[in-house]
Amino acid sequence: MYLYIIAVFYLAALSSVSSSELDNEVNSKVCFKDGFVFGVATSAYQVEGAWNVSGKGESVWDRLTHEHPEYIVDHSNGDIADGCYYKVKEDVRLMKELGINLYRFSVSWPRILPSGLSFKVNEDGIRYYNELIDELIHNNITPALTMYHWDLPQYLGEMGGWTNPLMADYFVDYARVILDNFGSKVKLWMTFNEPLSFCRQYDPYGTKVYLCGHNVLRAHGMVFRMFENEYRDKIGGEMSLALSFPWLEPYSESKEDQVAAETNRQFTFGWFANPIFSEVGDYPAIMRSVVDENSKQQGFARSRLPYFTPQEVEMLRGSWDYLAVNHYTTFMVKHRPKKNDSEPTYSNDINVETYQKDEWPKTNSSMKKVVPWGFRKELNWIKLTYKNPKVLVTENGRSTQPGLSDTDRISYIDEYLRAMHSAMYEDGCNVVGYTYWSFLDNFEWGSGYSERFGLIEVDYKSPNLTRTPRQSAKYFTTVAKTGCLPDNLADYSYNTVTVV
Ligand code: BGC
Repeated sequence: MYLYIIAVFYLAALSSVSSSELDNEVNSKVCFKDGFVFGVATSAYQVEGAWNVSGKGESVWDRLTHEHPEYIVDHSNGDIADGCYYKVKEDVRLMKELGINLYRFSVSWPRILPSGLSFKVNEDGIRYYNELIDELIHNNITPALTMYHWDLPQYLGEMGGWTNPLMADYFVDYARVILDNFGSKVKLWMTFNEPLSFCRQYDPYGTKVYLCGHNVLRAHGMVFRMFENEYRDKIGGEMSLALSFPWLEPYSESKEDQVAAETNRQFTFGWFANPIFSEVGDYPAIMRSVVDENSKQQGFARSRLPYFTPQEVEMLRGSWDYLAVNHYTTFMVKHRPKKNDSEPTYSNDINVETYQKDEWPKTNSSMKKVVPWGFRKELNWIKLTYKNPKVLVTENGRSTQPGLSDTDRISYIDEYLRAMHSAMYEDGCNVVGYTYWSFLDNFEWGSGYSERFGLIEVDYKSPNLTRTPRQSAKYFTTVAKTGCLPDNLADYSYNTVTVV
């Protein structure tokens, strides 16, 4: 049986190689039109290091990794990470060499406001991000700034974090400090990165998870309206939030599986997208009815999914300038019969079975298998569901082993870019840019430094944290500089690449 699985795996891998080679022959030039943006991304806690220098406050990730190193597979933390705090010039030079024209990074809230509250601004934090932003602009790289990529100030974490409704106000105060200090230079904003990922951490009892989502959505809407009313005329710019969306494919043609997959999409992407990007606004109707109904059956006096006021619905509806999506992989979704005595959890509210197919190629991260066609379907779903909004892909990528030879990463990017190209030029999806995750290897949350996502390798054993471009960096440089996918991936194979 084991051998059989291996054989199937290899056959599948071989057939995918030959079909993409065939594609290359048939369609020799796959190009993106002028103006299409190629970028790379990171986030503050994952790369900056310097966790306690020059007035920076403690974040919940500092506290968690220090008190519970056992929660991280290699017992590591982001204390030093890639030392990006000290390497602005070197890193921007590497980006310049990559030929990219957008860098997505996040601001560490406790680096700017040590407690999270705006009564005390840490000037060194402002200096650091100004230095980074200036260096990017000087090199013609557009800074794309995410205000929140999970490193909540510890002090606010102790106040209940995102389950506390006042967090929305504190986030507005923080956003104001960011807009006041960087608004004249940064033109591309994201309030949040993947609320789904951090709100799910509050899952038990299926209550806090929705409270988190509710407060994050309110916070986004409030910041967007503040930006629109008080800043946009003076500083211009565009704002969104980055939402994660693994494609969710029905297991069969049956009505039940189709409904299961769509329900799952609405509970993952629609949860945050519907209130902002849909015409009617508010939570997806299916989410509203399922959680209301389940809460009642489970004996709750009120729905576990909070209600927006009519004013909040209006504030959120249309609070976007573009749609930012993070996409890595695909899951199959199967209908699951409803049980009346299920525990109140977010997953039981969705109530579906999900899995990834054995024959899909693996990456070095669990549950992140390679399924490029899912990306095309997803972009089409977004087009249909939200009337073809302007989409910026803010994350896509895969992990590999350490080492400079990463042909698997090259094929991943190539296949996903081809799928995206088809979505754009055959299906009419309005995608304006693609951002690879990640610029550098970095601290991959619970997986520590064991999963490498970088186009550029970081040698964590060297005191200098030496950066070395991988083969994929060379590939991505060609793509970013020419706007076209190379005809022959073999040109980027180990022997033919000179790594600088
Ligand atoms: C997150 C990143 C993370 C990446 C790879 C995304 O969901 O935004 O912080 O490193 O996935 O797992």
